[in-house]
Amino acid sequence: MKQFALWSALIIAVATAASLAMVHFKPTSATWQQLVRPGPLSARHAYLSDRCTTCHEPAVGVTVANCTACHANAERLLGRQPTAFHASIEECAACHIEHQPTNLRPLVMDHVALAKVGARTLARASRSDADSAATLKSLETWLRIQRPEQLDANSTREALNCAGCHDRRDPHFKRFGSDCAQCHGLESWIIAGYQHPSSRSKECVQCHQPPPSHFMEHFSMVSQKFAGKEHARVDECFECHNTTSWNDIVNVGFYKHH
Ligand code: HEC
Ligand code: HEC
Ligand code: HEC
Ligand code: HEC
Ligand code: HEC
Ligand code: HEC
Ligand code: HEC
Repeated sequence: MKQFALWSALIIAVATAASLAMVHFKPTSATWQQLVRPGPLSARHAYLSDRCTTCHEPAVGVTVANCTACHANAERLLGRQPTAFHASIEECAACHIEHQPTNLRPLVMDHVALAKVGARTLARASRSDADSAATLKSLETWLRIQRPEQLDANSTREALNCAGCHDRRDPHFKRFGSDCAQCHGLESWIIAGYQHPSSRSKECVQCHQPPPSHFMEHFSMVSQKFAGKEHARVDECFECHNTTSWNDIVNVGFYKHH
């Protein structure tokens, strides 16, 4: 048994050495591009594999101008609140990582990188140039700091204005204010250890707002009838709703939309 393990370790070592040698032994006809190729391009960019200079400026590196030359027309991206910042950002590679070893989509939402890019954009825009007023204006919607040096390693959450990018999906209807960072982290909206009040609570309206349909005829025609609570008022959510899901109706079960 022991000997077998020793043998396989040896074989692996020899094989690794051989493949390493292969890596270093490149045919001399290879172009510089092949020699410095750090990894494959992402699937959607794979068609550019023989056109490195569409992204890389010789002697400069990847330029934003090259990215935006192909991506300027991103209406959907600019029309969504959390990604609208693309209109004023001048760095791309922190979140869109190319040449990765696996075939991942070249996308990570990195809020720490976002804050740093924001601070650098602020520094550039503060020095007067043609676009600076417009850039400063659009930074205002999502960056809370006014001077670049206000950002340090520990203050990412304070530097970003969460509501500027996320309040259109605020499930609390502004009842908890607009300082999302007071309660939320950057990785997930779930709050570890949070326990929802009991379904026996009668305080539901403190934290929840009824949907518009509850102020329309729909409420008496459908909601009250389905729940079998013809006399429950709109603000008595607890009469009809469980806390598991808004479609989980007390003593009736799930309401199915059609
Ligand atoms: C779709 C755009 C795109 C294409 C096409 C592309 N690259 Fe890149 N490449 C990048 C990005 C983004 C980085 C990361 C650069 C950074 O961090 O600023 C990078 C990094 C590199 C690096 C690491 C050094 C550096 O400049 O940071 C090398 C080397 C490189 N690419 C070579 C190539 C070669 C060779 C090709 C053609 C086969 C190629 N790239 C095609 C986007 C691209
Ligand atoms: C020569 C044109 C061209 C250049 C240069 C280019 N792209 Fe693309 N990119 C495309 C095309 C085409 C697609 C696929 C269609 C689409 O998603 O719009 C794409 C897709 C993407 C996607 C979506 C990837 C996915 O898997 O969903 C991202 C993100 C992206 N590009 C970012 C960049 C960044 C950042 C740069 C600069 C480093 C860049 N692109 C340079 C043409 C280009
Ligand atoms: C702070 C991180 C960050 C930076 C910096 C950033 N992006 Fe993005 N980008 C994102 C996120 C997040 C999405 C949304 C992805 C989604 O919808 O799943 C996105 C989406 C995109 C898409 C659409 C991808 C698709 O699915 O078709 C393109 C194109 C794109 N970015 C290009 C750029 C370019 C060009 C730059 C630089 C000018 C840039 N991005 C800078 C985070 C970033
Ligand atoms: C400039 C815009 C911007 C700002 C400012 C911003 N975010 Fe985000 N955030 C995004 C984008 C883009 C995504 C990716 C998801 C998407 O496209 O909807 C995201 C995703 C998230 C997610 C979901 C992560 C996941 O994978 O489910 C959380 C949680 C989050 N942000 C919290 C915050 C908090 C808290 C703040 C303030 C400290 C903040 N964000 C500031 C743009 C922003
Ligand atoms: C006073 C604290 C507080 C504030 C401020 C707050 N939230 Fe929340 N939020 C919560 C709690 C508690 C939950 C439930 C967490 C859980 O279930 O793990 C939650 C849940 C969420 C969820 C997940 C909902 C779901 O069911 O998927 C989102 C999205 C969210 N909050 C967005 C926001 C946004 C955007 C802001 C700022 C505009 C914000 N929150 C401000 C406390 C807060
Ligand atoms: C102290 C504040 C608070 C009170 C009181 C409260 N809730 Fe919630 N509830 C939350 C938060 C925060 C969330 C998570 C964010 C969201 O989805 O709105 C939530 C989520 C929910 C959900 C969504 C569950 C899901 O995952 O889809 C339901 C249903 C719900 N509450 C019902 C009730 C009912 C019924 C009552 C009264 C018996 C009640 N809540 C009382 C704060 C509260
Ligand atoms: C008389 C019973 C009753 C009362 C009281 C009631 N609801 Fe409902 N609600 C329902 C029923 C039944 C449904 C599902 C069918 C429907 O849309 O009418 C529903 C649906 C909902 C939905 C999902 C609707 C959608 O458009 O996605 C939400 C959210 C909701 N109620 C919140 C509340 C809140 C918050 C309160 C208290 C302020 C409340 N409801 C009071 C019976 C009630």
